[in-house]
Amino acid sequence: MSFQYIVYAKSEGIATITLNRPDALNAWSQELAQEFLTAMEDAHEDDEVRVVVITGAGEKAFSAGADIKAMKGMTALKARALSRMGYKVCNAIETIEKPVIAAINGYALGGGMEISMACDFRIASDKARMGQTEINIGLIPGWGGTQRLTRIVGKARAKELVYTGKIIEANTAFQLGLVNLVVPAAELMTTVKQFAQELAGKAPVAMRVAKAVIEKGADVDLESALALEREGFGVVASSEDLQEGVSAFTEKRKPAWKGK
Ligand code: CAA
Repeated sequence: MSFQYIVYAKSEGIATITLNRPDALNAWSQELAQEFLTAMEDAHEDDEVRVVVITGAGEKAFSAGADIKAMKGMTALKARALSRMGYKVCNAIETIEKPVIAAINGYALGGGMEISMACDFRIASDKARMGQTEINIGLIPGWGGTQRLTRIVGKARAKELVYTGKIIEANTAFQLGLVNLVVPAAELMTTVKQFAQELAGKAPVAMRVAKAVIEKGADVDLESALALEREGFGVVASSEDLQEGVSAFTEKRKPAWKGK
């Protein structure tokens, strides 16, 4: 697989997708999105891949969002297609049956922040800066920012960020619950790798079902969500991994997961 706008690497069960347009602060073009989706499909299909990490090339940005330069003269239909492109990217992140970590190494603005919000975890460098800046160019978030941000930080904070378009520091994002962890820039990728390895060592079937139940359950009423959990619990119980986990516990050894 060869890519121009991303770098895709797999090692020790971790697939890393690096958004690679550093001259444009890793802004998303159609081509980049297409390559990203191809890599995600590969990560999905490859049983060796247990965790996906997304980060940005260069020192400055995770991603500065959608390509603003491509918006000159944009028609409503083109805007709708652009919104759908981001939808497909976020959907690929939320529906891949493996945890996805955003390693936020710099600016995560507009669509860049929105992509990170579709990830299971956001780990930020202390140099990271985040914002739903669309209003500053006369736009609103189009890749889920009005909805996922509201679900993560609540309506009032989401409105504050979307209406002002302000850019916040990593520690502020942490205080808002927008990022899981902030670490010194030099330690970002080591920290992310350690966390990814920890996740990669967990039971694959349980991980897959936990993600699906949390993702699906978050948007339905509690009774329906608890029904989803019960079904998921039943499915996981039929896995060989559960029997292995129980045996390993009683035999006081490390489990050897099969992912079955
Ligand atoms: N699209 C296209 N190019 C971008 C870009 C973007 N979103 N963000 C930055 N770039 C380009 C700049 O135009 C510049 O290119 P040139 O050298 O060719 O001029 C290069 O990246 C470096 O950027 P700056 O010179 O602006 O760097 P800076 O350090 O002065 O500023 C910044 C950094 C504050 C992030 C600034 O670049 C900025 O505000 N970028 C726009 C961020 C933004 O508003 N993103 C939202 C996009 S809309 C969106 O995403 C909609 C949606 O919901 C899907």
